[in-house]
Amino acid sequence: MSDFITIKKRTHYCGDVNGAHIGEEVVLMGWTHRRRDHGGVVFVDLRDREGIVQVVFNPEISASCHEEAQRIRSEYVLAVKGLVRRRPAGMENPDLKTGEIEVLAHDLEILNEAKTPPFVLDGTAEISENVRLKYRYLDLRRPELQKNLILRSRVAAATRDYLQRAGFIEVETPFLTKSTPEGARDYLVPSRVNQGQFYALPQSPQIFKQLLMISGFDRYFQIVKCFRDEDLRADRQPEFTQIDVEMSFITEEDIIRIMEGMIAHIFKTCLGRELPLPFPRISYREAMDRFGKDNPDLRFGLEIRELTDILQGSGFKLFAEIAAGGGVISAIRVADGKGLSRKDLDDFKDYVAQYGAGGLAWARVVPDGWTSPIYKFLTPGEVGAINERMEAREGDVLLFVADSPNVVRDALGNLRSHLAKKLGLIAPGAMAFTWVTDFPLFEYSETEKRFVSTHHPFTSPVLEELPLIETDPGKVHARAYDLVLNGSEIGGGSIRIHRKDVQTQIFKALGMGDEEVSSKFGFLLDALEYGTPPHGGIAFGLDRLVMLMAGAESIRDVIAFPKTQKATCVLTDAPSPVSVEQLMELSLKIVT
Ligand code: AMO
Ligand code: AMP
Repeated sequence: MSDFITIKKRTHYCGDVNGAHIGEEVVLMGWTHRRRDHGGVVFVDLRDREGIVQVVFNPEISASCHEEAQRIRSEYVLAVKGLVRRRPAGMENPDLKTGEIEVLAHDLEILNEAKTPPFVLDGTAEISENVRLKYRYLDLRRPELQKNLILRSRVAAATRDYLQRAGFIEVETPFLTKSTPEGARDYLVPSRVNQGQFYALPQSPQIFKQLLMISGFDRYFQIVKCFRDEDLRADRQPEFTQIDVEMSFITEEDIIRIMEGMIAHIFKTCLGRELPLPFPRISYREAMDRFGKDNPDLRFGLEIRELTDILQGSGFKLFAEIAAGGGVISAIRVADGKGLSRKDLDDFKDYVAQYGAGGLAWARVVPDGWTSPIYKFLTPGEVGAINERMEAREGDVLLFVADSPNVVRDALGNLRSHLAKKLGLIAPGAMAFTWVTDFPLFEYSETEKRFVSTHHPFTSPVLEELPLIETDPGKVHARAYDLVLNGSEIGGGSIRIHRKDVQTQIFKALGMGDEEVSSKFGFLLDALEYGTPPHGGIAFGLDRLVMLMAGAESIRDVIAFPKTQKATCVLTDAPSPVSVEQLMELSLKIVT
């Protein structure tokens, strides 16, 4: 065995050697980031998780080391002993933490060789994500991903630290369980012992954490994997991690206050950043009206304003007809839109088309009116009223969409973000938090032709509105709240139903028959009868939170071994077929 590993031992991480160590002997171990030969002297950038340091092999210091150093190739694993010295004047590298010094080696061992990696790890080249994921163990050597995963570990530690000090108890809940619905499909696991029967992997620990409140744990948390078989996007994974929290004898206000404190603690500890508390709040209704989404991005303005009342009787037939048919006309104002070309305006029309909008009209505000294809259809009174509603000034550009309320919201809500990026309206590093409150309890699903829970079926309705559940379910509000950061939902929770009769009534309103309720949730209804305290909670998406804190583009960049958009793992080749014997053992047969 190498005496570097057994006796000499590493003294420092590569990235930690600095000016304070000048004149000291150090022992370093790491990977060859780069090797350069300069007139008989060999330079190696040696890398470990803490950073990169320059190591110099000079034949005048050690001829044997210098000779061995000629063999070194990218990603070879080295152990080096040497003297830390100041770099010669003019050779400092201000981009490196260790850029002031270098290590003059007099002892070297190549601990292992490496094949030429399929991609360079210095982060300059564009690499296809598929290749990165196939060689994830190499991809993870990249300093950027190391930084992300180290941040993730620190966020988890700060979370535990805060919650434990606030009296929360960490309890593990099962993965092999019964369906815990959160609106996605379940991942199923066949049972060998009970043939023909299946476990479901939890979409969240929702029911178990409520049962823990019934058991009297009072304050619970868990940093826990959840599994959801749903369409994947840049901020969604089939397995992801929640910071899951539940509390007894509390109101919405208590939960919001304690959780804001947790987020602020995490940002302070992990990024050194003070967040102003309390976070702003906005109602669901207002978020939809002003931003077109229930996860509004508040880093920029570009608010949506509705103009239907002004235009419903307009001589512009198209708008008048859309309004008469129950549609709406809304607009966004781009302040000082002189930079927007005709082509940009045409592109916006194509952009909103993907959200189903049949068109997009524009107007440039000029001293004596508008320059706009729709100007001729409108009266001066209508133009004046629109200018006033939009607070439009000369030089501004107005962008209108007329369509059904949903399409208008979707089109303009997404156009806002598109515009903000294009126009550079988002300040780098901005963190805009908001709570969203007063959600409807149910939303109507056109595909299922019934009401579904906006949050989940265990969320308490606003009790005064309970009678409406029978008569006008769409009008009932939930005691639910989401936390949104930069347009991304990072957490959501609610006060729960703690009475059996109310829970039964909700299941019924969701279209479940007695039998279905009793087979799926009978155990919960039973439990509710044995002294259930009023309780509530929340769960944060840890991956999303870390992604936003790290400024990462994709959720996959903060997960060590993520799945692709098609829910596969190209590294291990999962999912994959299994043997006939395994299927037989489970009494399963593949029919397609
Ligand atoms: P919810 O379904 O809102 O609530 O989930 C909580 C948070 O988890 C994150 N999240 C995801 N992150 C990555 N990939 C996914 N597929 C994914 N799905 C959700 C989001 C979300 O805000 N049991 C309730 C919480 C409660 O009521 O206490 C729940 O799971 O950031
Ligand atoms: P037209 O009379 O068809 O030329 O339309 C006049 C203007 O209205 C054009 O600028 C169209 O782009 C715009 N327009 C068409 N449909 C819509 C719509 N659904 N919402 C907003 N503007 C539209």
